[in-house]
Amino acid sequence: MLKIGVFGTGHLGKFHLNNWKEIKNVELVGFYDPNDEIASEVMAKYQLKRFTDPAELIAQIDAADIVAPTNFHFELCQLAIRNGKHVFVEKPLANTMEEARELVKLVKESNIKLQVGHVERFNPAFLATKSLKLNPMFMEVHRLAQFNPRGTEVSVILDLMIHDIDIILSLVKSEVKNISASGVSVLTDTPDIANVRIEFNNGCVANLTSSRISMKKMRKMRLFQKDAYVGIDFLNKKTEVIRLKADKDENVFEFDIDTPKGKKTIAVANPMVPEVNAIKLELEEFRDAILNNTVPVVSEVDGFRAMEVAHQILQKIRNNTINT
Ligand SMILES: NC(=O)c1ccc[n+]([C@@H]2O[C@H](COP(=O)([O-])OP(=O)(O)OC[C@H]3O[C@@H](n4cnc5c(N)ncnc54)[C@H](O)[C@@H]3O)[C@@H](O)[C@H]2O)c1
Repeated sequence: MLKIGVFGTGHLGKFHLNNWKEIKNVELVGFYDPNDEIASEVMAKYQLKRFTDPAELIAQIDAADIVAPTNFHFELCQLAIRNGKHVFVEKPLANTMEEARELVKLVKESNIKLQVGHVERFNPAFLATKSLKLNPMFMEVHRLAQFNPRGTEVSVILDLMIHDIDIILSLVKSEVKNISASGVSVLTDTPDIANVRIEFNNGCVANLTSSRISMKKMRKMRLFQKDAYVGIDFLNKKTEVIRLKADKDENVFEFDIDTPKGKKTIAVANPMVPEVNAIKLELEEFRDAILNNTVPVVSEVDGFRAMEVAHQILQKIRNNTINT
């Protein structure tokens, strides 16, 4: 049995508690949350022991699940790693690049596994693309959310866009060549809406728009590559693939078009979207990485790379703001 402690039992922390309770081969030892009201609620609902000193909980577990606000990720991760405990930490890995760099170094010097909660990697609509050969050359990405004070301790880049940055970096096997970005702070002191263009050395271009002040929600990624268009709807859990030639999939809808090169067949397919709970799956993957001694699906290095790009974007936005 892998002994788990949860640090931070607010909105997302409670989802983690619900899932840990259903996951095999783990034992929930207790939780740490400095908010008395939230702690009382959690003790009553989950019959779980509250620890008022994070170090005491760390001493009794094998792995820490850190779901506290981002500005506390570093100190909690550091406490766990220095005590030889595995870490699952919510995205983003840390608040600053210095903190993220230090965490990568600490993990490297230790014998522990660290996974970052980039949960969209486990979104069923994204999992449905696993059997496709994705080699995007152009991407159009929208992540729009209604305003919620939760998460506003960081900019929309570190709160929302970082999900898409991580997915894009996992798909494009090339270095970032150039970034252009603009952003506006409307309701908070940091950008609430941003538009970003990332160019890669292999010619791929990704256009991203993220907003946390929208009237409507949207989480869509459209990938264009030589032989296909792939639409991934993270919100509605739907995936669409449109190709120039038919595929063997049973779900394929076909039609012909006339082109300067003659008649071509267009095939529209909706790959099977698995029915999975993304949070449960990411926590199970973390458990398995520890038990099987494998590299977690979203490692500290992945978390660091996503942060590196996010911080370059923030720097570009700052430069643009100074110049206007
Ligand atoms: N992966 C995702 O899609 C996703 C979604 C939402 C939030 N998050 C991340 O999860 C984290 C928590 O977000 P949330 O929405 O649950 O926030 P929240 O404000 O609802 O909950 C945070 C909880 O942490 C507690 N807390 C404060 N300081 C703490 C400390 N030092 N140690 C332990 N707990 C502390 C608070 O009392 C609160 O109960 C953030 O890092 C956020 O970026 C990720």
